[in-house]
Amino acid sequence: MLAYLSILAFIYPNFKVFTRQMSPNRSISQTPKPLNLQNTTLTEPQHRVKVNNMKRLGVAVIGTGFWGKNHARAYKEIDSTNLIAICDVNAERAQAIANQFGVKAYTDSTKMLKDSEIEAVSVCTWSTVLAQEALKVLKAGKHVLVEKPMAADSKQAEKLEKAAQEGDLVLTVGFLTRFIPGLQHIRQAVESKKIGEFVCATAKRVTQWPERIGDVGVIKDTAIHDIDVVRYLTGEDPTSVFAKTGHMHHKQFEDYAHVMLTYRDGKSAFIESNWLTPYKTRTLVVTGSDAIMKLDYMTQELWIEDAKQTVQPRYTVVEPLKLELQHFAQCVNEKKKPLVTGLDGIKALKIAEAIMASSAQNKVIELQ
Ligand SMILES: NC(=O)c1ccc[n+]([C@@H]2O[C@H](COP(=O)([O-])OP(=O)(O)OC[C@H]3O[C@@H](n4cnc5c(N)ncnc54)[C@H](O)[C@@H]3O)[C@@H](O)[C@H]2O)c1
Repeated sequence: MLAYLSILAFIYPNFKVFTRQMSPNRSISQTPKPLNLQNTTLTEPQHRVKVNNMKRLGVAVIGTGFWGKNHARAYKEIDSTNLIAICDVNAERAQAIANQFGVKAYTDSTKMLKDSEIEAVSVCTWSTVLAQEALKVLKAGKHVLVEKPMAADSKQAEKLEKAAQEGDLVLTVGFLTRFIPGLQHIRQAVESKKIGEFVCATAKRVTQWPERIGDVGVIKDTAIHDIDVVRYLTGEDPTSVFAKTGHMHHKQFEDYAHVMLTYRDGKSAFIESNWLTPYKTRTLVVTGSDAIMKLDYMTQELWIEDAKQTVQPRYTVVEPLKLELQHFAQCVNEKKKPLVTGLDGIKALKIAEAIMASSAQNKVIELQ
């Protein structure tokens, strides 16, 4: 117990509230003692942005389907941005979303990008169109947040990075998971070795196939989040990848993937993604040499466990998309490097490509 409490004290020097998770089928200390949890707080996520006195950035959204309309809504709701216009090739949808938010509607992004009030743009089109639209944004001299997977392949993604560098523009990729506060806490614990040595991360992201996604498979659509999460947590790129992928329902692309990533010093990661499971599960377990941390992305619940006890910290739940878009605006306004760079997007796509190659060739693929 003492050892455990000292781990927790290291992880969260400013404890606010800890509740014990009393799940009946979980092994918890038989003689729990109350923890002293008064006047303490979990650290806020690093990328929570203070927006006071910040210039409101003129923004627009290209592609306002399932996800793009959330970008439009979040831009309207946060203080640091001023939504000017939206664009969707579906004229009816463009008009409906524009009416909802009281902004201009376009069906042609080239026309919209002539508006000098627009300084930065979210690109939320179908995945295989992202790079083409993001390149237009950069060539128009505007900053861009391009949704994951950034491009159809890493070659296209590299063109975006080059254009952003040439134009001295912010390019970031929609790896939303990095902005989930619980993941920020895990990252801090891993970085400071508060759960001991990082041993392994196990990520599971499964659901039914959302049939509107027809242009990429589950690796570039879904597993790419976890590929990025593991890069973010370890601060390293894997040295090799082995994967099994296949399709059961999808005619053209893989709808399940089981991936093992290995690292130079024995660390490893497992990623399970599919569009076969009848309900949505999105979890991460990080095993350290002294304790493990578990995160449910759906509920944003976080657990810290060792051999004796399970502890569940409470922390402020903030909509990750708002944090992501605030951070984007702040990087543009303050000319800062974003948390997710174009290079992060390129590397995630390269790992996704290696996963596909590993499965197709039934062998371990060594990475640079
Ligand atoms: N980061 C995340 O957590 C997250 C979550 C969901 C989706 N996404 C990504 O967001 C993107 C959109 O996904 P979705 O689920 O909203 O898809 P969707 O099919 O619901 O919406 C895509 C929209 O883009 C429009 N569009 C396509 N090409 C266009 C173009 N050239 N110009 C303007 N509009 C265009 C379509 O008409 C459609 O309305 C995908 O790349 C997806 O991977 C990211």
